[in-house]
Amino acid sequence: MLASLSRGFFLTLADSASLKRLASRYGMRGREGFARRFIGGETLDEAIETASQLERRGLLHTLNHLGEHVRTVAKAEAATVEYLTIIERVRSARLTCNLSLKLTQLGLELDRATAATNLRRILEAAEQGHGFVRIDMENSPIVSATLELFETLWQQGHRNVGVVLQAALYRSADDLRRMNALGARVRLVKGAYKEPERVAYQQKAAVDAAFLRLMCGLLQDGAYPAIATHDPKMIQAGCAFAREHGISTDRFEFQMLYGVRRDLQASLHAQGYRLRIYLPFGHEWFPYFMRRLAERPANVAFVIKGVLHEHVGQGQAFGKH
Ligand code: FDA
Repeated sequence: MLASLSRGFFLTLADSASLKRLASRYGMRGREGFARRFIGGETLDEAIETASQLERRGLLHTLNHLGEHVRTVAKAEAATVEYLTIIERVRSARLTCNLSLKLTQLGLELDRATAATNLRRILEAAEQGHGFVRIDMENSPIVSATLELFETLWQQGHRNVGVVLQAALYRSADDLRRMNALGARVRLVKGAYKEPERVAYQQKAAVDAAFLRLMCGLLQDGAYPAIATHDPKMIQAGCAFAREHGISTDRFEFQMLYGVRRDLQASLHAQGYRLRIYLPFGHEWFPYFMRRLAERPANVAFVIKGVLHEHVGQGQAFGKH
């Protein structure tokens, strides 16, 4: 039954303010809160602790302070200051850590100049410790503005910044050629948003085929590509392509989300591939969490078990992946 719930259903629920209020009350409560599976903590202290644990296990990681679509300049400023604080804390904890952020978190929907100024401040702070900042890719109406802002900063000489391209979008093949020609670092993903047919493939098979094409182009011509997927077929194809084309394992990395396919994470790491874990944290975890449910409705069972665990105080909250 759970498997039949559609991706669109969860992505629609992600916009529900009342569900968000209800979930926020329970999701991160106590050690067994049902969202803890995917969220590295609500506070920076918790996130630093989780990041340290990953680093001790030899895993690369990227911290993301959750938040998107801010509605005021003051909130964009607060998000920027939070990132500047993260950079300092990461440095003082001596962690080797990338950052990921969303431009709508820095005010892109208010005005581009605000977002550009905020991003520049973050890049300059990160640059001092050789830190790298990835701009996550949001839904299709935001894509052009995101790439344009990235290219402006690139032309201004910033090199510690990279982008994300979504295989689901038809435009990504052209975007990839442009990014490869620039020498920009790209993270390739399938795409987490519900998009209209006018801009995106609707069938999983078509998205997977596009992912394979883009992945080969990225491994062949890209600058230190990041292949971000939990799909064993894509991962196997990526490893095979790299082997056949003499691309050594230090010239690219795989990336996966915190809490997703931990079995596969362990196996890739054990085989000697570079693996980076995307580690989100903060109070604004609801939309991110709902996108994870949309990718795998069976995760709802984990949530229900987690809630039951809290109320009856028994059982294991989450399954294997
Ligand atoms: P697919 O959805 O086909 O899943 C393959 C297999 O992976 C499933 O069969 C299941 O076993 C497992 N799996 C996938 N999702 C799971 C989940 N939530 N829980 C449990 N198992 C799961 N998107 C975007 O639009 N913009 C962005 O900036 C990013 N950034 C990003 C960073 C990183 C590091 C990753 C890994 C992913 C993103 N994404 C993203 C999300 C991406 O677009 C996509 O929605 C998810 O990665 C799921 O797609 P898969 O490639 O894993 O394949």
